[in-house]
Amino acid sequence: MSVSAFHEAPSQGLLIDSSPSLPNIMHLLEPRNSREHVEAFAAAVRAGLSREPKTLPFEYFYDDEGSRLFEAICKLPEYYVTRTEDAILRRHAPDMVKCLRRADGPLGEPTLVELGSGSAVKTRRLLAAALKRCGRLDYVPIDVSASALEESAGQLARKFPGLGITGYVADYRRGLERIMATAAGPRLIVFLGSSLGNYTMEGASDLLSMIGGLMGESDRLLLGTDMAKDAPLLEAAYDDSMGVTAAFNLNLLHRMNRELAADFRPDGFRHRAVYRPDRGRVEMHLVSLRDQSVQIPAARIAVRFREGETIHTESSHKYTLGMLAELRGAAGFVEESAWTDHRGWFRLQLWRRAG
Ligand code: TRP
Repeated sequence: MSVSAFHEAPSQGLLIDSSPSLPNIMHLLEPRNSREHVEAFAAAVRAGLSREPKTLPFEYFYDDEGSRLFEAICKLPEYYVTRTEDAILRRHAPDMVKCLRRADGPLGEPTLVELGSGSAVKTRRLLAAALKRCGRLDYVPIDVSASALEESAGQLARKFPGLGITGYVADYRRGLERIMATAAGPRLIVFLGSSLGNYTMEGASDLLSMIGGLMGESDRLLLGTDMAKDAPLLEAAYDDSMGVTAAFNLNLLHRMNRELAADFRPDGFRHRAVYRPDRGRVEMHLVSLRDQSVQIPAARIAVRFREGETIHTESSHKYTLGMLAELRGAAGFVEESAWTDHRGWFRLQLWRRAG
């Protein structure tokens, strides 16, 4: 651990405080070209594309190229999600970090854990507020994209002296289990964007239960959720005029070509986004433009597509207060505070474990 070694050095505290600590990056995932990784991806693809209707697991959007495209989505005029959430954070960050306290004694620093940090631009509001409050802070981002994590960790280390950074290239469960076993409380776990919305209601409830199961009494979860709104606004946000979202969706086909030696012709498919208020979500599909068949050697399958047949690649849930109450109850949380924008488009909520 370079960070603690640095602190034990016999020099003046002042010097230490003004020099940025180097971020530590821990790798808990199999490298992308490892056999384990390719086999897991191949098995997921085989299962999803053998089903009717066809699906693909959304976790696989975020390879390095997908993470880069998603950052571009966040800056699109139609994608109101990032801007709206950022405006709420800008205004209320100091209130959101009140559970964190300056560490006195040998317990270690207060800790902010972030799930799916990506470029961590919005997180800066929380980090600045927490540092102002506590003086020092450990920031522990978890992300499946090593490149996104390394880049943002480097930038944050330069921007925020006083911030210790340990990034985990990991899935949420493995990353959190490791972190929660080592970091001292209180810990603030943040899950921003509308990432929770990509899970089914059942999947979201399982994920939240897993998180809650690792939290202690003084820990808090800060959760971002996008709210139900008019269909045209939602459909534009998920099918922008510049085609970035389409490229993001189609990147899944390129990824299967790259990693599984598949022969998808991405120009044989089209991106489609539909709001299904009855299901509380926007659904993203890839529509086959003709009858075609595709070989996916690493998954040992050939897949036939009829013209107009779709692969359901992702859903993004748009919550009502009722849906949020259902999730909170099922996963065993109590709400402490919540913040929203003046139009009620996006909601950030601070939860603690019930009981
Ligand atoms: N978490 C983002 C969201 O639901 C992911 C996302 C944005 C996305 N645009 C997309 C996923 C288009 C698939 C296709 O808002």
